[in-house]
Amino acid sequence: MMVKENISIEDIKKMSYVEFVGFINQWNVLPGAHTTLSKWRTFANINEKSNILEIACSTGFSSRELAILTDCRGKAIDISKQSIQSAINNKKEYASKIKIDYLVEDAYHFATKEKFSHIIIGAALKFFPEPQVIIDKFTTLLDESGYILASPFYIKSTIPKELVDEFRAVFGFTPTTESYKEIMKGYKELEIVYEDHNDIIQETKEELDYYCTCTVKRVYMTKNLEDKEIYKVIYDRLYQIKEMSNKLRPYQRYVVLVLRYRSKLFPNRYIELF
Ligand SMILES: C[S@@+](CC[C@H](N)C(=O)[O-])C[C@H]1O[C@@H](n2cnc3c(N)ncnc32)[C@H](O)[C@@H]1O
Repeated sequence: MMVKENISIEDIKKMSYVEFVGFINQWNVLPGAHTTLSKWRTFANINEKSNILEIACSTGFSSRELAILTDCRGKAIDISKQSIQSAINNKKEYASKIKIDYLVEDAYHFATKEKFSHIIIGAALKFFPEPQVIIDKFTTLLDESGYILASPFYIKSTIPKELVDEFRAVFGFTPTTESYKEIMKGYKELEIVYEDHNDIIQETKEELDYYCTCTVKRVYMTKNLEDKEIYKVIYDRLYQIKEMSNKLRPYQRYVVLVLRYRSKLFPNRYIELF
């Protein structure tokens, strides 16, 4: 028999954005979702010999889906216990054969003797107060030649202050307000093997509702919840998160990056930017 989860409306309202994502098992994807993963697979040659490390993996989307696509092995870390628990559950439910271990770890303190072929960071650098420390640290965990895979947002025009404030109230942190050139500074010591730029099409109300309804119904079922009010609180919070992100789309783009580290070249740039 499924155990009923004891959770109150207040508990849900008190959760931080990251705790809420972990709790509802939102498949918190990187910009471009499967399309970005397919580009990384192709242009960074991820295959069954690859040993990947995903940093700030949330509920495990990128590493899980790359492992399904390529049969690679690896590790994925996140500081949030709830997100890692959801990542482990997702592996069990949707991809039980993949060779990815999900671990609760603070990326700043993560220690290993292992070397990796690919480090996956997606758009998660934004979540670190010192992004350069993370880039520098994880570059040292690559093989003699290896890849950093990123898909950061950048702004194409200034986001109005009211929208930045509204976003901060919903998420508890500020959205990306850096330009493309500012974002790229952090990667100047690596070779750009592949790069493309993407606009984001806003979602309709109907699309947002369908996504939220599917995710909330799954939480309800897996956690064996019964209270209709709790359903509404979870749905409303998820819809608010999605709607807020949607409002920023006209000001944002994201860049898909395959960045290569080669010990013999690092940290120099011998390749022109054109
Ligand atoms: C929005 S998610 C990233 C989702 C997706 N992987 C992407 O690329 O956009 C950001 C994650 O960073 C995690 N995080 C924040 N600080 C961290 C730290 N010091 N170590 C590990 N994970 C951290 C949060 O728990 C959260 O799950």
